[in-house]
Amino acid sequence: MKTKITELFGIEHPIIQGGMHYVGFAELAAAVSNAGALGIITALTQPTPGDLASEIARCRKMTDKPFGVNLTFLPSVVQPDYQGYVEAIIEGGVKVVETAGNNPQQWLPLLHEAGVKIIHKCTSVRHAVKAEAIGCDAVSVDGFECGGHPGEDDIPNYILLPRAADELSIPFVASGGIADGRGLVASLAFGAHGINMGTRFIATQEAPVHENVKKSIIAASELDTRLIMRTLRNTERVLNNNAVERVLEIERELGEKITFKDIQSEIAGKYPIILQQGEMEAGPWSCGMVAGLIDDVPKISDLIESIMAQADAIIRNHSAIIAT
Ligand SMILES: Cc1cc2nc3c(=O)[nH]c(=O)nc-3n(C[C@H](O)[C@H](O)[C@H](O)COP(=O)(O)O)c2cc1C
Repeated sequence: MKTKITELFGIEHPIIQGGMHYVGFAELAAAVSNAGALGIITALTQPTPGDLASEIARCRKMTDKPFGVNLTFLPSVVQPDYQGYVEAIIEGGVKVVETAGNNPQQWLPLLHEAGVKIIHKCTSVRHAVKAEAIGCDAVSVDGFECGGHPGEDDIPNYILLPRAADELSIPFVASGGIADGRGLVASLAFGAHGINMGTRFIATQEAPVHENVKKSIIAASELDTRLIMRTLRNTERVLNNNAVERVLEIERELGEKITFKDIQSEIAGKYPIILQQGEMEAGPWSCGMVAGLIDDVPKISDLIESIMAQADAIIRNHSAIIAT
């Protein structure tokens, strides 16, 4: 399938694997890219720009297809060396960067000069329009359903995507709540040029996370995610567990008076313990409502193939249409 997104990024299928902290290693990005979609390494999971450079080199050994790097600008305890990460991306010859979390404007001239295309992930139409205005090449529009940070507007994709289509001139992908060909066709119907998936890619053979993580996604229904850090205006959609219940209890108790310090011990540094060591109660971790649609752990090439085959079948012969 050819769309403006496949043309922009030089990929076969209009499917992107969103950056994911402690999931987006070279193994995942290479497997996604080898399947004809766009794999993405998560920069900030690498402790230093030098480590990111090695990860990019490792990925390049595993695939000769295009892959990208995610650069996330979110509030963090220690400010990362963004200049160093951008240099590692450019020197590593990466041609796609997914930015998220904050306005990427200051990095655009440097990246564009090096021939890098920027897709900015946003959770509102006004931020998508701003991304277009500052010169981003594409946007990823992330609905309220999404795993990770859905923003503070709470607009689901049924509204957000057609609104984005009405306002944008640059190509965009739909993100959040998508697991299969039905989600791809619906996204195209809303005016998107492809899809971005996070949670679905974690429950795959190649995802370099502990088996317990994959099992917990399969066991979860669409009712099992919660929103934490609402009180800090840094909302994150996570899979429910005892640590999440404790964080929510602290948020209820402290209300407006809360600061990050009040929940820091429940959150900071937990991702590797959960995602790599499989201690599923160690802390909150991002997961989308789409977990309710996921009940297998396929090879990534089979997943992509089945999404494209299902999309093709729907487009050709929709079972709900008796006559037109
Ligand atoms: C475990 C996990 C970690 C994530 N980490 C990041 C991240 O570091 N940066 C980012 O921009 N998005 C991150 N995301 C969001 C994804 O890139 C993607 O936008 C989101 O998962 C889409 O929603 P879905 O899970 O319903 O497919 C993360 C998502 C998950 C599930």
